[in-house]
Amino acid sequence: MGERRIIVGAGGQGRVVLEVWRAQHPDDDFVFLDDNASIHGRHILGARVEGGVALLARRDGEALLALGDNPLRLQLGAAWSAKGVTFGRAVHPTAIVSPTAEIGAGSVVFAGAIVNTQARLGNFVIVNTGVIVEHDCVLEDGVSVSPGAVMGGRVVIGRGTFVSTGVTLAARASVGKGTIVGAGAVVVGAVGDDVVAHGAPARKVRAASREDFRKVL
Ligand SMILES: CC(C)(COP(=O)(O)OP(=O)(O)OC[C@H]1O[C@@H](n2cnc3c(N)ncnc32)[C@H](O)[C@@H]1OP(=O)(O)O)[C@@H](O)C(=O)NCCC(=O)NCCS
Repeated sequence: MGERRIIVGAGGQGRVVLEVWRAQHPDDDFVFLDDNASIHGRHILGARVEGGVALLARRDGEALLALGDNPLRLQLGAAWSAKGVTFGRAVHPTAIVSPTAEIGAGSVVFAGAIVNTQARLGNFVIVNTGVIVEHDCVLEDGVSVSPGAVMGGRVVIGRGTFVSTGVTLAARASVGKGTIVGAGAVVVGAVGDDVVAHGAPARKVRAASREDFRKVL
């Protein structure tokens, strides 16, 4: 048997992360942890749900947080890193990641994504299916980018920001921390911190609430 790998969250995100990580490490042994006790002991796509998230304390394998909720992922990532849990990196074999790009611990790059020259992804970042992260982009900790979003070169996205499906970010565009960019938006120039913005060009429509980060999933 290969190495043991632990996926926290057995929902939709968890199933995708399982397939990404398993494609990268086909001989390893994958398990889920999830606080939904009604699924404990079940197998999901061949991986057993061993129990609740507290079992991470055993520190018996590399972990990934398969949680689409950015604030929650950042919070759990910090708490469990402080307790000595090692977080892995999952990159699907069909993703193209430049050898000069950096990918932080706990981050995932899904099928068909491209992460180009000297792009930098922080910790606990999600780069979803078919996303293009062009050269010199910076995605800070806890950013998630939804399927099909495209970034030109030198885009900067702040901590914990959620970029929805099909968003286009022009070269050198920037988005602040804690923001949600709505589906199909076109970002040129700068969008600020802690707001919901959408449209073409993307404009702030209101302040982002904690609930907004659950609603986008
Ligand atoms: C950002 C988002 C969550 C905002 O949704 P919301 O809170 O329901 O929308 P708001 O209350 O801000 O809507 C205000 C107005 O903007 C419109 N609007 C909402 N989202 C819009 C968008 N992405 N682009 C253009 N207009 C939009 C609404 O229809 C509404 O118009 P109306 O006043 O004429 O009825 C939503 O647009 C979105 O992008 N969801 C997709 C998330 C996603 O891609 N998840 C992927 C998971 S993999």
